[in-house]
Amino acid sequence: MEKELFIPLILGTNRKDRKSEAAAKWVFGKLSERDGVEAKYFDVRDFHLPTDDYGTGLASQFPEWQSAMQHADGLIIVTPEYNHGYPGILKSVLDLLLKEYIHKPVSFVGVSAGPWGGTRVIEAMLPVVRELGLAATFTDLNFPKIGSKFDESGELLDTAYESRVTGFLDELLWMSKTLRWGRENVPSRFHQ
Ligand SMILES: Cc1cc2nc3c(=O)[nH]c(=O)nc-3n(C[C@H](O)[C@H](O)[C@H](O)COP(=O)(O)O)c2cc1C
Repeated sequence: MEKELFIPLILGTNRKDRKSEAAAKWVFGKLSERDGVEAKYFDVRDFHLPTDDYGTGLASQFPEWQSAMQHADGLIIVTPEYNHGYPGILKSVLDLLLKEYIHKPVSFVGVSAGPWGGTRVIEAMLPVVRELGLAATFTDLNFPKIGSKFDESGELLDTAYESRVTGFLDELLWMSKTLRWGRENVPSRFHQ
């Protein structure tokens, strides 16, 4: 039997009243329902980062994240758009690791108050994830006007997202399977 794909999802903002959390939880629910997938939820709010240090030297202080990314076959990043960029804390958390990401796919969920659904923050993330060795998928999931997308109990109000999330996850899982095969079968000096 084929080994399950292990896919962490990380919510990229610690803002008190963050609306991205509803999108992150909804996508996580859809990911968890997939056959052959083990999903794990991370929240940047749970990372108590030092204020005077930075980078991979700190990785061992975050063993759950390090171990998850060592074993991950892919990653989902849920990020709000802040002034067309990403929250600083998301970058700080991603920068804790490096070799653990190499030759693994990453998919983006962009969230914004405005009409563009985080397309600009996703574009801003691309050079970062490329440097981390992640391979970005071309199927994003965008949540524009997030304030009106979910009701108070976290129910998504727009049924069009059912088919969108299917396509989004299909592509990530295809990339995850394919790159896992590559990591296991095609030698590279970058593999641990
Ligand atoms: C510092 C900051 C900058 C923001 N910049 C943008 C922006 O450039 N474009 C946009 O559509 N929304 C912007 N927003 C609104 C967020 O997209 C909005 O808060 C949305 O709910 C997603 O972020 P949240 O998860 O923090 O709620 C900004 C919000 C903050 C706090």
